[in-house]
Amino acid sequence: MTFFEELRQERKQWWSRKDGQRLRASLDSLPEIESSFHVEAGRVCVGNTSNKNHKDQWLESAKNLIPWKKGPFQLFDQHIDAEWRSDLKWDRLAPHLGNIEGAQVLDIGCNNGYFLFRLAELKVAMAHGIDPVLPFAAQFELIHRASGLKNIKFDLFGMEHVDKWSEKWDMIFHMGIIYHHRSPVHQLLAIREALKPGGVAFIETIGIPGEDSSALFPPDRYARMGNVWFVPTLSCLMNWAEKAKFINIQVIADTDLTQEEQRLTPWCPPPSQSLTDGLDPLDPSKTIEGHPAPRRFMIKIEKKGGK
Ligand SMILES: C[S@@+](CC[C@H](N)C(=O)[O-])C[C@H]1O[C@@H](n2cnc3c(N)ncnc32)[C@H](O)[C@@H]1O
Repeated sequence: MTFFEELRQERKQWWSRKDGQRLRASLDSLPEIESSFHVEAGRVCVGNTSNKNHKDQWLESAKNLIPWKKGPFQLFDQHIDAEWRSDLKWDRLAPHLGNIEGAQVLDIGCNNGYFLFRLAELKVAMAHGIDPVLPFAAQFELIHRASGLKNIKFDLFGMEHVDKWSEKWDMIFHMGIIYHHRSPVHQLLAIREALKPGGVAFIETIGIPGEDSSALFPPDRYARMGNVWFVPTLSCLMNWAEKAKFINIQVIADTDLTQEEQRLTPWCPPPSQSLTDGLDPLDPSKTIEGHPAPRRFMIKIEKKGGK
């Protein structure tokens, strides 16, 4: 067995844990439905609206999987309005994808796989999402089953496994991940190893304003998040990529993070927290801890060796 086959077997056992059993039961009891898939105004729509047999059971199961952090999805005629409007991030990214028909794409930390569904529409050979969080795997499975798509898949793997792939991927998405891990440059080196020569990666992150190449290393929380290590300026992010020996480093986005993009909704209700909870209510240019408020940066980078 290969490393990844063994890891897949090991991670399968997570479904036997207490929380896993609850999620499994909710998914396994779902009746078969006629699959359907399309994207409309940024919404990933699944479940055939002209054949609504079993709709109530499917919606009940989707409700059992609350909170939905990424979306939007539509299941039959029900809009699943997630905390994040991931379609807005997609709109920033999509014009820079180029022709990816037939490509092998990896999405690291894919959450429930919203971007995988958007990639499927572009006829990639395979969009493979990895994320080690079981409730997100369950959300992916529900939407995936209703979609009937064959060119996307999900595994409960993590960033720490990426360098086990060597020259495998044409494209890698690494979005909303770099600041959650303690070594930004090692992550970029792992991505470089996993990309084919000439392959490209999109690195998206929260960041702080400033012209200098520096990163905030919050002593405690950042915008109430406990697992934040380095929050770079844009110039620092580009410098990390350059030091990891990427070429053709392009800035794709440098934007404010707004409540249009991230907010609580009925599908991600309290006690989940969202953007406004992390900012100073009297001065939204600062986090609640007094650090600069997050911006969103995205860069496109290329591995040397392409034609
Ligand atoms: C801020 S979200 C970003 C989600 C998505 N990539 C996006 O841009 O909207 C961070 C994601 O990283 C996932 N994650 C947690 N631990 C991870 C790990 N070790 N490796 C990769 N992803 C991880 C979380 O489950 C979560 O879905």
